[in-house]
Amino acid sequence: MPRRVYLQTFGCQMNEYDTELVRSVLRDRGFAFTSEPAAADVLLMNTCAIREHAHARVHGRLAQWKTLKRTRPVVIGVLGCMAQNLKQELLDAHPAIDVLAGPDAYRRLPELLAQALERRERAVAVELSEYETYDTILPERAPGVNAWIAIMRGCDNFCTFCVVPYTRGRERSRPARSILDEAHALAARGHRQVTLLGQNVNSYRSPAPDGRDFAELLADVADVPGIERVRWTSPHPRDFPPALLDVVAQHPRVCRHIHLPLQSGSDRMLDMMGRSYTRRDYVALVDDIRRRGDIAITTDVIAGFCTETDDEFRDTYDLVREIEFQSAYVFKYSERKHTIARRKFPDDVPEAVKSERVTRLFDLQREISAAHNRRLIGADVTVLVEGRAKKSSRQWMGHTDANVTVVWDKDAAPFAPGDRATIQVNDASASTLFGVPVPALAPAV
Ligand code: 5AD
Ligand code: SF4
Repeated sequence: MPRRVYLQTFGCQMNEYDTELVRSVLRDRGFAFTSEPAAADVLLMNTCAIREHAHARVHGRLAQWKTLKRTRPVVIGVLGCMAQNLKQELLDAHPAIDVLAGPDAYRRLPELLAQALERRERAVAVELSEYETYDTILPERAPGVNAWIAIMRGCDNFCTFCVVPYTRGRERSRPARSILDEAHALAARGHRQVTLLGQNVNSYRSPAPDGRDFAELLADVADVPGIERVRWTSPHPRDFPPALLDVVAQHPRVCRHIHLPLQSGSDRMLDMMGRSYTRRDYVALVDDIRRRGDIAITTDVIAGFCTETDDEFRDTYDLVREIEFQSAYVFKYSERKHTIARRKFPDDVPEAVKSERVTRLFDLQREISAAHNRRLIGADVTVLVEGRAKKSSRQWMGHTDANVTVVWDKDAAPFAPGDRATIQVNDASASTLFGVPVPALAPAV
């Protein structure tokens, strides 16, 4: 009987992708998978460390799994960023953990699990690598319209608030050839959209002698026959050469959407965060993007960073109002182990003030997003049909180029996932467009 693994993912899209890598590594070595924790021999979770909230969810789930372990022998493994970040601290807090593996240790997972399953020994692998890109492993993907491809791993930016350089190590890019081969394989399997992933995706450079940069890679992936849409995330505002903006503005299969993390609208905060741009630089980049046409811009903002004053928060608030992002993720600053901010600055904004600032930004952005979406009422938008809507199996769901969710009744027209559909928008909320399919024109003879 093969050993059965239950595998749960927390965190970002890169973690979703890593879980697909882990599935492939384990399947190759004879493991099977189950969607029922109660039926599993091995319980694995792929964890995130980006904010304290991510840690709290993992502690909660570990407590549940510990209870399960009391009733029968089961191996518990913690993978990913939180494992890498906390290491021994996590093992000490949870004696029930049998296996701990960081993001660069997944090739060793079969051995680590064997050690725990057969010898009943704790197995730990948390060394970061300077070269591991997993480019020889084809991730095990569920069928679907979208597929992730990690094109680079790690980050050398060392933004002072961010734990990623410590959990995912030094930045390294995967060879362009292996990325393009994977994109061809994905198209052949019926995936219609590819999302290129990296912690600092636009600083991608294919190893020598190839040397292709991110703009070139983006265009090459979008040229793969069968791939209809390419998305990418997450970039740093520092690396936006004109050639990259040109590809986004001009290539018909690159989505006209740029996620552009702002973090703060205050120059003192940006400097303390180590972001290497000013408010003016950021606004100039937004202007540059918008001069090239209708390209949606979304962002990330942190409220309540170390020593942030009311006026500095107001600078962020005003800038968010001025720029009118399509959407924004708003985060409460959460001090992280190892980071420069933790060593250098006091985390002194009271919790209640942080919460209030987050709420104010969130409310502001909701209004802005709703206004953007309401402007589309009456217009036609093009989507790739992705699957059933979250809230109703009687509705289809897809996204616009700008990554806005669109929902419509299935009865209205026969579609299948992967089809392109034109939807006339008749209603809009801050997060979703609602509409009816526009009948396709008969092909010209
Ligand atoms: N606290 C709050 N938000 C954070 N982010 C990264 N680190 C932290 C932190 N310590 C946010 C940033 C980043 C996004 C992925 O998460 O806005 O762009
Ligand atoms: Fe979380 Fe960042 Fe790791 Fe993704 S890379 S899992 S967001 S800590």
